[in-house]
Amino acid sequence: MTSEKRRPIIAGNWKMNTTPEEGAALAESVLNQSMQLPDLDMVVCPPFTGLHAVAERLTGSSVSLGAQDMHWESDGAYTGAISAKMLLTLGCRHVILGHSERRTIFGESDDHVNRKIHQALTTGLLPIVCVGESLDERESRRTEQVVTVQIRAALSGISEGQMEGLVLAYEPIWAIGTGRVATPEQANSVHHHIRSLVEAQFGAHVSSAIRIQYGGSVKPDNAHELLSQPDIDGALIGGASLEADSFIAIAQAAVS
Ligand code: 13P
Repeated sequence: MTSEKRRPIIAGNWKMNTTPEEGAALAESVLNQSMQLPDLDMVVCPPFTGLHAVAERLTGSSVSLGAQDMHWESDGAYTGAISAKMLLTLGCRHVILGHSERRTIFGESDDHVNRKIHQALTTGLLPIVCVGESLDERESRRTEQVVTVQIRAALSGISEGQMEGLVLAYEPIWAIGTGRVATPEQANSVHHHIRSLVEAQFGAHVSSAIRIQYGGSVKPDNAHELLSQPDIDGALIGGASLEADSFIAIAQAAVS
């Protein structure tokens, strides 16, 4: 199956940026410019504190709301944590899980990521599951090995039916926020590998349907080349998602 048959999905990870007011204004600008883009899925992921204000702007629109993380338990004594149900009731459809910043800065393990994915799916959220290697791992030619371990652990115990709507994101750590983007060939080769891992676990039907985003210094001027690769089905965008114009320009590149 070629990428033409998979609907592109473009998501903005706002990270720890924007107050509720700034987030609402950004969402409004994205929304105003997204009308001409009917052939793709768009998601914005504000910080927790901005979800409510952004949800109000997005109600009834085709732009979906996502969160950046959640806890794996449904409730309880977890100071500072946010549950899947809390996100769902705020209007979230997606949740980013296993982002490398969660893994490296906050010590999140593959097991945590797996538990979060189960909890999200059970609750009714669609996870965007991130994997990716460090610079050291790439330079020592361990990219495929690292990504294999991350994907297998993340998807452990997930059923074929649960894979529907789940999105994977390949984000090489060395490309995040650095301006150093993977070449389209480098990225596509890892995407192809990830798709083969999905095929081995769930079969060709699931692997040909699953959408795999690329993330790491995606900008309007490199988006088209990346997004036209056969195994790249969308982008997970950090810095360039904080301006509606650049976020929309990347989305346009996905359908041009
Ligand atoms: P940048 O687009 O800022 O490199 O961030 C990518 C990312 O981490 C998205 O989740």
